[in-house]
Amino acid sequence: MRGRALHPMFPLRLRTLALALVLVSLAAAAIWAAFALRERQVDRDLRAIVAAEGLTGDPSRGRELPSIDEPLAQLGKKLFFTKALSGDNDVACATCHHPLLGGGDNLSLSIGVGASDPDLLGPGRGHPDVAPNVPRNAPTTFNIAMWDQVMFHDGRLESLDKLPGANGAGPAGMRTPDTLPGLADPLAGENLVDAQSRFPVTSPAEMLGYSFATHKPHRTIRAALCARLGGYGMGQGDLPDSQWPAEFERVFGRADQVEALITDERIAQALGAYERSQVFVDTPWRRYVEGDDAAISDAAKRGALLFFREPAEGGAGCATCHSGDFFTDEQFYTLAVPQVGPGKRDDPYFDDPAVQTEDFGRWYATFDETQRYSFRTPTLLNVEVTGPYGHNGAYDTLEGIVRHHLDPAAAVAAYDPAQLIPPAQTARTAEYTAKALAKLEEDRRSDRTTLQDVKLSDRQVDELIAFLRALTDPCVKDPACLARWLPEADEPDPDGLQLIARFGPGKATQ
Ligand code: HEC
Ligand code: HEC
Repeated sequence: MRGRALHPMFPLRLRTLALALVLVSLAAAAIWAAFALRERQVDRDLRAIVAAEGLTGDPSRGRELPSIDEPLAQLGKKLFFTKALSGDNDVACATCHHPLLGGGDNLSLSIGVGASDPDLLGPGRGHPDVAPNVPRNAPTTFNIAMWDQVMFHDGRLESLDKLPGANGAGPAGMRTPDTLPGLADPLAGENLVDAQSRFPVTSPAEMLGYSFATHKPHRTIRAALCARLGGYGMGQGDLPDSQWPAEFERVFGRADQVEALITDERIAQALGAYERSQVFVDTPWRRYVEGDDAAISDAAKRGALLFFREPAEGGAGCATCHSGDFFTDEQFYTLAVPQVGPGKRDDPYFDDPAVQTEDFGRWYATFDETQRYSFRTPTLLNVEVTGPYGHNGAYDTLEGIVRHHLDPAAAVAAYDPAQLIPPAQTARTAEYTAKALAKLEEDRRSDRTTLQDVKLSDRQVDELIAFLRALTDPCVKDPACLARWLPEADEPDPDGLQLIARFGPGKATQ
């Protein structure tokens, strides 16, 4: 046989080689199987949590929401983008809530009236005298219709019914900044978002400015703006080529008098319909919850386990506050995020943004001492694009705000104000933040918070962030997808004051 011609050792070697190959592939298969089992275990654990928490992945479920294509929402879009709703015609809602900036402004603290270049948004936006002039970070308007209880970082606009899925609608009505705690505002309208839209125009720093009906009652300010859009009374001739009466007629039909056509209530309804059409909930996390194991990465799954598990079970306990499909319990907690920026002052007419004061947060809405320095739990949907983070944008990155939660005192000690865009007031930051930290300690002693110091490895922090990034609807990063919420180039501009935004080259948040 030809085989005999071979070296006598060869068959033996061949056998050893074959055996070795078999062993190696067996070992590889075993490792692979162990790995796959572990991954399946992650899915099993996570799906058990999803079931226990009753999550659907979709906070818009069961809500009746307007479509951006409806005429009312289209009118709202035009109103949202006009600078004519600001006292000096220099600020639009979109200045601080632009869809291409995640429904916010990409700034730590907003710059409203009197900006050096009113149409320049995002990093690079500045103010000639003092920056920033607004004490808080602009929250996103994306998914705004999912809030059921409170608007604003301090909840000074709130539903008195707190019905789930109702976005503030209910028989008891809403408390607004125009009423005292617990008292319904008869002019609030149908939901929290409509109600909210009546207030930015009354804020001197955000939209009103210092020459137009300033220090007048809110109803006088709103009436003056209606008169401007309608071109009657004191607003006659303000907007020479105003198309607003025709725009309102298209939606509401003819009215005998323009005073009845363009009203404060209708402006609020239209703005609200536009904002409430901004539903961006189609996230990889939702697809995972709906059953697709491959929708999110393994790192994100491990991050999710950390997010939902209590510290006693080796987790980070995030979901005690960031709970449910909208990732918020709509409650208020002291986190002692560094107190930066001009702060809020008790006297609304004391308006010197150069002077730094504290921000007492929820206290302003309730005068309850146990709520001093506490702020609303934010939603985490699309959080990747809604930075900077915290009520005053003190943290520029997700890692920064996440690490702050894990050990607030250490984060405050290491805090670097250079991350603030634009640079903000910090002269008394150390003093005020120390008071907030003391309040956090008091809350911990009195069981008013679940926030505990949690030790995580760098890898675990990365995993938590991977999970947070799985909460992004791809549409919010895609200008083509967002185009429906932007004025179209061939659309007539009703007053020649449409915000045509330019975006600075500065540092992006993520
Ligand atoms: C100068 C920037 C600026 C302008 C202009 C502005 N906003 Fe805001 N907006 C903010 C800031 C800052 C907050 C948070 C204030 C707070 O919580 O105290 C806010 C809060 C909101 C909220 C509540 C969000 C939440 O999660 O609770 C909504 C809704 C909103 N604005 C819509 C509007 C509309 C509608 C307009 C135009 C009529 C407008 N904003 C104009 C900066 C601005
Ligand atoms: C005790 C309640 C509580 C717990 C527990 C908690 N958070 Fe928060 N979280 C908040 C509050 C309140 C804020 C807003 C603080 C502020 O505005 O100053 C916040 C802010 C955030 C923000 C910034 C969002 C934004 O839009 O500004 C992120 C991200 C975040 N939390 C993630 C987490 C993660 C991850 C965990 C778990 C490690 C966690 N949170 C645990 C209450 C909590």
